[in-house]
Amino acid sequence: MERALQLAARGQGSVEPNPMVGCVLVVGGKVVGEGWHRLFGGPHAEVEALRAAGDAAAGATAYVTLEPCCHQGKTPPCTRSLIAAGIRRVVVAQRDPFPHVQGKGLAELRQHGIDVVSGLLEEEAARINAPYLKLQRVGQPWVLAKWAMTLDGKLASRTGRSQWISGEASRKVVHELRGRVDGILVGRGTVLQDDPRLTARPPGPRIATRIVLTTTGDLPETSQLVQTAGDVPVLVAMHEVHAPHAEKTLNRWGIEAIALPNSSPRDQLTALLNELGRRGMTNILVEGGSRVFGTFLDGQFIDEVHAFIGTQLLGGQDAYVPIAGTGYAGPDRCPRLESPRIVQLDNDAYITGRVSYTPAPSDDSSQNLDPADPQ
Ligand SMILES: NC(=O)c1ccc[n+]([C@@H]2O[C@H](COP(=O)([O-])OP(=O)(O)OC[C@H]3O[C@@H](n4cnc5c(N)ncnc54)[C@H](OP(=O)(O)O)[C@@H]3O)[C@@H](O)[C@H]2O)c1
Repeated sequence: MERALQLAARGQGSVEPNPMVGCVLVVGGKVVGEGWHRLFGGPHAEVEALRAAGDAAAGATAYVTLEPCCHQGKTPPCTRSLIAAGIRRVVVAQRDPFPHVQGKGLAELRQHGIDVVSGLLEEEAARINAPYLKLQRVGQPWVLAKWAMTLDGKLASRTGRSQWISGEASRKVVHELRGRVDGILVGRGTVLQDDPRLTARPPGPRIATRIVLTTTGDLPETSQLVQTAGDVPVLVAMHEVHAPHAEKTLNRWGIEAIALPNSSPRDQLTALLNELGRRGMTNILVEGGSRVFGTFLDGQFIDEVHAFIGTQLLGGQDAYVPIAGTGYAGPDRCPRLESPRIVQLDNDAYITGRVSYTPAPSDDSSQNLDPADPQ
């Protein structure tokens, strides 16, 4: 199953909104075939492994990282292929919460006399497919937050300049991230200050929609995002009162506008993430700036952090911090990274990990927030 999980991970960036899945076929302690789901719409892991094994698959045990599908989707059901190939035993890491499967795949295999075991390395499987599982269960994409900051914890100088805090090796990692997500989001402040393109260079397996969060929808026509909207999609999420006015201009530039409710920032982000989930986006990368990260952290929307720390000492009490917003009252109960990975990339430190949110003891998460903190 460890091998099947390694294989599954190879599909990252290419299979979404499908899950990553790997499969290993074993006869008498020997691997006779292996495969993984390589591409959305392409053959599933089980079919790839059966193809690789040929006749040797008869009587094999199949180790599969996710419950085999039992419905006709873009490809025929994998349960049928396993049954037809004479597989004797199927060991799965995790059940598939996809509504058409949800245990029905395992039931069908059992009905055909196949010995079925579920739950081997389940936690590891859930970990690699966390974005898929979140999309299935919550209907929202997995949110990665990425920033580069100076050694003294600044996102940009007091004049707003931030290019470049991280070195080339770090920026290469950022472009790899961009190339495997469905959306890249920034606030209007970052568009005005940095005029970013937000594309993956070189391109990765996916082309992300560029998303701008703004109140008014007022973007400079000369900005790189507007100028390249015909080549790579741009989506502008703005407050609904401004939408009717701004939409016409944006549409004329080939940009889609979506209206967010005129309510709290938390409700606005909930509405936005629901809409991105409805569009099948599995991962979005939030690239700042300070206020946007603040809203995402206050609302507990960040699932994973990618922080690049340079060696500069920028100073300045008016310089930008990575995460503004209201923030938390103390380090004891604030979110933190679980099992972070810390890597040196030339002169930068790269810290990445998933965010764990600690519930307040009173079970009232609002007590984590310190209303006295300036916004
Ligand atoms: N070092 C890095 O990795 C990095 C990355 C990105 C940016 N930066 C730096 O960050 C600075 C910009 O940060 P910033 O805080 O000024 O701007 P920002 O976070 O990029 O954008 C803030 C803007 O987002 C819009 N917005 C709409 N709804 C929002 C909501 N619910 N929550 C938050 N924002 C919402 C508002 O736009 P309206 O104007 O329409 O009201 C708001 O002014 C620049 O200096 C840039 O260089 C650094």
